[in-house]
Amino acid sequence: MIKLAPSILTADFGNLEAQIRAAEAGGADYIHLDVMDGRFVPPITFGPLVVEAVRRATSLPLDVHLMIIEPERHFEAFAEAGADIINLHVEATSHIDRLLRSIHAMHKRAGVCLNPGTPLSAIEEVAEVADQIMLMAINPGWGGQKFLPAMLPKLRRLKQMLDARGVAPDIEVDGGVKAGNIAACVGAGANVLVCGSSVYNREAAPRENLHDLRAAAGQPAPA
Ligand code: DX5
Ligand code: ZN
Repeated sequence: MIKLAPSILTADFGNLEAQIRAAEAGGADYIHLDVMDGRFVPPITFGPLVVEAVRRATSLPLDVHLMIIEPERHFEAFAEAGADIINLHVEATSHIDRLLRSIHAMHKRAGVCLNPGTPLSAIEEVAEVADQIMLMAINPGWGGQKFLPAMLPKLRRLKQMLDARGVAPDIEVDGGVKAGNIAACVGAGANVLVCGSSVYNREAAPRENLHDLRAAAGQPAPA
């Protein structure tokens, strides 16, 4: 079974609680929170205070994506704010192994993310430590970008690498996931799909969009 993780980046922040409840009622598996610091990526979004507010609005696991430099300085605040999964960029720290273990010490799931241009070898040595490996299918910073096609073979190579090592962390793909490419992502090995503008948009409500995405992925609707 795949997990759909709506990103609130394109949600209406003036009605955040209602937007999150709409995703939860529509069958979301996680809520994905994009934290940006204006340095690792150009935009600034939000910090632990918003994560804490989202925590109060839902019982779904919170999948927090830290697009910040020196995540070692801040991950504890996000853990305390109620994050369930803390995802760090391998490009943002020199000490990814230590950080993943520090997240475990706080009884949270630990994820590691790679930008499109970062080779898989950057995370090979922590494949046994990470609970989740996230491939960016866009250059991070903004929602609504187009999926980079070269990320499909990269997903397949990641799956092969993990199989060869005998480990099975979750494989998450983030950026540009839509009904038109979600089946290809799942076929290439992804089991956690971040969906931002394909869930929160002007065309349809989150429930309808989540239903369409799950159907396009060839998955039964949740009970
Ligand atoms: C971008 C974020 C993504 C993004 C997803 O840096 O990490 O989570 O908002 O949005 P879509 O699905 O619209 O690409
Ligand atoms: Zn993200």
